[in-house]
Amino acid sequence: MKDFAGKVAFITGGASGAGFGQAQIFSEAGMKVVVADVRDDHIEKASKHFKDKGAQVHFIKLDVMDKEGWVKAADEAESVFGTPDLLIQTAGVNNFGPIEASTYEDFDWVVGVNFLGVAYGLITWVPRMIKAGRGGHISTTVSLAAFTGGGTYGASKSGVLALMEGYYSALKAYGIEVSAMIPANINSNINDAMTKSRPEHLKNTGFNATPEVGEFMYNIMQSHGIDPRELALRMKKGIEDGVFLIVPYPSGAKIFEERHERWALYSTVDGMKELEERAKRPQTEEQKRLEFETEGYNRSMSFNAGARNEVGVGMALKDRDWVLESKRLK
Ligand code: NAI
Repeated sequence: MKDFAGKVAFITGGASGAGFGQAQIFSEAGMKVVVADVRDDHIEKASKHFKDKGAQVHFIKLDVMDKEGWVKAADEAESVFGTPDLLIQTAGVNNFGPIEASTYEDFDWVVGVNFLGVAYGLITWVPRMIKAGRGGHISTTVSLAAFTGGGTYGASKSGVLALMEGYYSALKAYGIEVSAMIPANINSNINDAMTKSRPEHLKNTGFNATPEVGEFMYNIMQSHGIDPRELALRMKKGIEDGVFLIVPYPSGAKIFEERHERWALYSTVDGMKELEERAKRPQTEEQKRLEFETEGYNRSMSFNAGARNEVGVGMALKDRDWVLESKRLK
């Protein structure tokens, strides 16, 4: 897709962080934008921004895990601006915890928003876009975690990436392009999702989701994350170029080579030995450079694993508490 002016965009999670950046950039490109988001505080702030600008942006409160909510949101969006030409699914959450401490609700929430939420959006919009017969573009904000794995978050993002590749092949016949963006850190508000966006009935967690953890992540995102507007510009360029994987940092290709090599090594006995040996070696300057580039877009990062441990990021709720079945089943 190369022309945006006068067309319609529908953006989930568009009231904060990466999605808010996308809503701004595509609105400024002349699009009519529908923002669908679950948080009243985010919607209030973002709608004020667009009202002040006199932009054509319509807000809908939607929980992407709610199937009926999706149908209502799509009906409303179509009655306000028409069927979207551009669908961007960016709503996402993270619980920053170790996978072995997960409760059923940790999976229900993270996979529910990050994977099923995207699937429901596709189930809702794809037939309507096909019926509208104008082609278009569907993009999703995935994450580098889709390649690094780890945790409920990484699992949900790997799933989304596979899903998007499936739709990429399937929708060519209808003139609908598909892409997946792979950011690392973003200067956003994802840190407070675990306390403020998580629904009451899914609150049972095995993770140390304290305000201190949220604050620690916030400081990392704010000081080292990419600016959401800049990220949205890179997404727009990827959409214009028609690439499937939108990699918003310079060393993207190199990182994928490393990841694929790791997968190849996992599959042989010698490869497994080699991986163990590599884990003992200190990081090379090149590896450090790549890590900094992907994690923060900023080489002067100062946080490290030690600091994370002190605060308890990525730790279970209480030492070994999570092994109790009663803590998982509530
Ligand atoms: P954010 O928290 O600032 O924005 C996410 C938006 O999604 C919020 O407005 C939130 O209200 C909304 N949302 C959450 N749950 C929802 C639900 N159930 N239904 C509808 N809307 C919902 O966070 P950020 O960082 O801008 O996240 C955007 C996307 O970027 C997510 O998919 C995230 O996984 C991804 N991402 C974030 C990274 C980061 O470092 N912050 C890194 C890589 C990817």
